Amino acid sequence: MIDISDRIKNKDLLSKVVSAEEVAAWIKPGMTIGCSGFTASAYPKAVPLALAERMKKDPFTVNLWTGASTGPEFDNALAQVHGIKKRLPYQTDAALRKDINDGHVDYLDLHLSESAQLCRVGYEGKMDVALVEAAAITEEGNLIPTTSLGNAASYVQQADIVIVEINTTQPMELQGMHDVYIPADPPNRLPIPITKADDRIGTEYIPCTPDKIKFIVPCDIKDHTRDLTPVDENSKKMAAFTLELLNAEIKAGRMPKNLLPLQSGVGNVANAVLEGFVESDYSDLIVYTEVIQDAMLDLIDAGKLKFASGTAFSPSPTGMERFYKGIDKYRKYILLRPEEISNSPEVVHRLGVIAMNTALEIDIYGNVNSTHVTGTKMMNGIGGSGDFARNAYLTIFYTPSTAKGGKISSVVPMCSHIDHTEHDVDIFITEQGIADLRGLAPRERAKEIINKCAHPDYRPILMDYYERALEATKKNNTPHLLDEALSFHQRFLATGDMHK
Ligand code: COA
Repeated sequence: MIDISDRIKNKDLLSKVVSAEEVAAWIKPGMTIGCSGFTASAYPKAVPLALAERMKKDPFTVNLWTGASTGPEFDNALAQVHGIKKRLPYQTDAALRKDINDGHVDYLDLHLSESAQLCRVGYEGKMDVALVEAAAITEEGNLIPTTSLGNAASYVQQADIVIVEINTTQPMELQGMHDVYIPADPPNRLPIPITKADDRIGTEYIPCTPDKIKFIVPCDIKDHTRDLTPVDENSKKMAAFTLELLNAEIKAGRMPKNLLPLQSGVGNVANAVLEGFVESDYSDLIVYTEVIQDAMLDLIDAGKLKFASGTAFSPSPTGMERFYKGIDKYRKYILLRPEEISNSPEVVHRLGVIAMNTALEIDIYGNVNSTHVTGTKMMNGIGGSGDFARNAYLTIFYTPSTAKGGKISSVVPMCSHIDHTEHDVDIFITEQGIADLRGLAPRERAKEIINKCAHPDYRPILMDYYERALEATKKNNTPHLLDEALSFHQRFLATGDMHK
């Protein structure tokens, strides 16, 4: 077994060190386990792998609550053996997605800012145990977090039993990069005292006590973060439109020269947009976001970033190496908070965040589908997009104008599922252009979105739909032909192509 004694400062706890297999054997079918992890960062690895091995021989299921998605040693390993009964609040794993859409897993897709509170007040039943990755345990029993915070602190607070995976691949230099604050629940909640992205309001550790810790498991498996995909042409165009838009905001006096705090979603477009900032003339940029990725290191090295606050540090494997090599420099710019705080509607609103997230599809009146392919199949989940979109100063949604090689228009008459409503969205950006919806009524929005954001191949049929809806409803405020509103999706399901 790997020696972790130097990472356990409370020597009484050394007797609790056991193997992952021993913990897996102790877990009972039907248990609800609250885990650390947000993206492929700081999720437990050794115990889930051992649990999946046990489930192969002895099939059963457990309920898993995390911060968000995790790495393959967690969601993928357990989905492969159909070991998950209920899962919340977000995921991105292909095997788990299949289990969800095949009806094997009950998936509770939650606004991330609300997930800890919902668990604390008991809507999702009782949590049997918290399973948390840590870099070390202090003399007092407190846990030093690693590359994300997610919901770990609330789960440790709620659980009577805590299992800690000490991950020796996570350097001790991570200590001090966290700010753990758990708000009281109503009616005793106070204002969250963050007025600047770099304000520290909590502790450097997850509060815990030695008596709660039942097992400690050594682990030497690295965070399985994803390689960066090269930025495609569409994303580059959307990044350029973003800079054009923000420059105009500064010129109009609606934003200071260093902009307002930036939040960016995950994926290709988000990376391209942040890379666009690296090439830009901006300086002293501030980030108040969820996930901190490679582009943030580029911004630091380019001298353009003042500070980044998030809940997870999740760069590519090469980005992670770069971070560890330069940790003394980078750590001064980065702070990780619980997702209840990184995504807090109150703080997002106060700071005036610029929210930049990606949609699967958007409709001609400004609604957004981020989660369900053709209305019924879960993709990933809403994640933090709703926390930011609803409360930001400026809410931007991106999507390429078409999907599946042009057979799907991402601009449709009516979204087949709605995560963000027309009331929350300010701007749409596709590779075709920018639709600025601020101050526009629904009929004005429809023309702006079709003309600026839809692919030219789809503009005529979208405009035809809009004009017929306008006529049929005698110019209703939001004209729709209800029996035809989802005809684009129906065509795709019937023929594999929305044109036909
Ligand atoms: N209809 C049907 N399928 C579509 C589609 C549409 N309108 N748009 C995209 N797709 C398909 C793509 O073809 C692709 O399919 P594949 O996996 O079979 O190749 C898949 O959906 C993902 O599309 P892609 O363009 O690769 O997505 P992405 O990596 O840019 O992610 C979201 C887009 C919406 C799935 C992702 O941003 C997400 O999960 N968002 C919700 C959560 C969120 O916003 N988090 C950040 C908040 S802080």
